Amino acid sequence: MTPLLELRGLTHTYGSLRAVDQVDLAVLPGERHALIGPNGAGKSTLFATVAGTLPATAGTVLFDGQDITAQRESERARRGLLRTYQHASLFLNCSVLDNVALAVQRVDRVAHRFDRAARRFGRTQSRALEHLDAVGLAGRAADHAAALSHGERRQLEVAMVLAAHPTLVMFDEPTAGMSAAETERFADLVERLPDSLTLLIVEHDLDVVFRLADRVTVLHLGKVLASGPPEQIRADDAVRSAYLGAARTEDLFTGDPR
Ligand SMILES: Nc1ncnc2c1ncn2[C@@H]1O[C@H](COP(=O)(O)OP(=O)(O)OP(=O)(O)O)[C@@H](O)[C@H]1O
Ligand SMILES: [Mg+2]
Repeated sequence: MTPLLELRGLTHTYGSLRAVDQVDLAVLPGERHALIGPNGAGKSTLFATVAGTLPATAGTVLFDGQDITAQRESERARRGLLRTYQHASLFLNCSVLDNVALAVQRVDRVAHRFDRAARRFGRTQSRALEHLDAVGLAGRAADHAAALSHGERRQLEVAMVLAAHPTLVMFDEPTAGMSAAETERFADLVERLPDSLTLLIVEHDLDVVFRLADRVTVLHLGKVLASGPPEQIRADDAVRSAYLGAARTEDLFTGDPR
């Protein structure tokens, strides 16, 4: 199968620091791929380089077989490569539904520009409601976004990303700052996303990683330390020693490695 995302020798340097160093990685269509590694391993930098937020210093990003290394973030998003941000720009004074409707409009404006306004409005609202339903927020549609809890805001961000018709979604620490219950709800929602959607997730909560991921890649000092199915990663000695302080590999998977 052709990978949906393929990185070849991807490198990003900050001055003399090689934060992402010659990374090769392939993510297959429909895969739920987790990227883990200690603080400062280069996970967020890798994400930013793949999404086009940061330029690659060297190497290639292939998406759906096309070289997108030189493309801007907005062009990559149009192709279906979307990321969520740690601090998303929600319109807190608007309703939950309107936040998603705006995201739907941004994408569908061109596609339906010849429709009559009333019909377009109806279509936008029903699409937005479908995306809210997919993330379990349909019941909050009429509330102000400001009234949502931290966890619900992250759910809303996912609905807004879904509105952009993604084929690959990258989440950078989606459960950071969530309570145990919110984390549980978020993992449920990720599990329920359509199988056709490919996911790349940076996540510190290894219980979440091993629940959701089909494949896990471990980054350490900018390089890929290991990549494989979850069971293989759990058993890998090099992974254990990358997380200083963990006496046994199993200790990594009973809580937060930080
Ligand atoms: N804007 C920047 N300028 C210079 N160095 C940076 C910058 N951003 C990150 N770094 C450095 O690059 C390395 C990788 O950082 P990055 O944020 O990608 O790691 P991370 O794996 O996402 O870490 P965390 O788990 O803490 O989120 C670190 O050494 C970090 O200090
Ligand atoms: Mg990070």
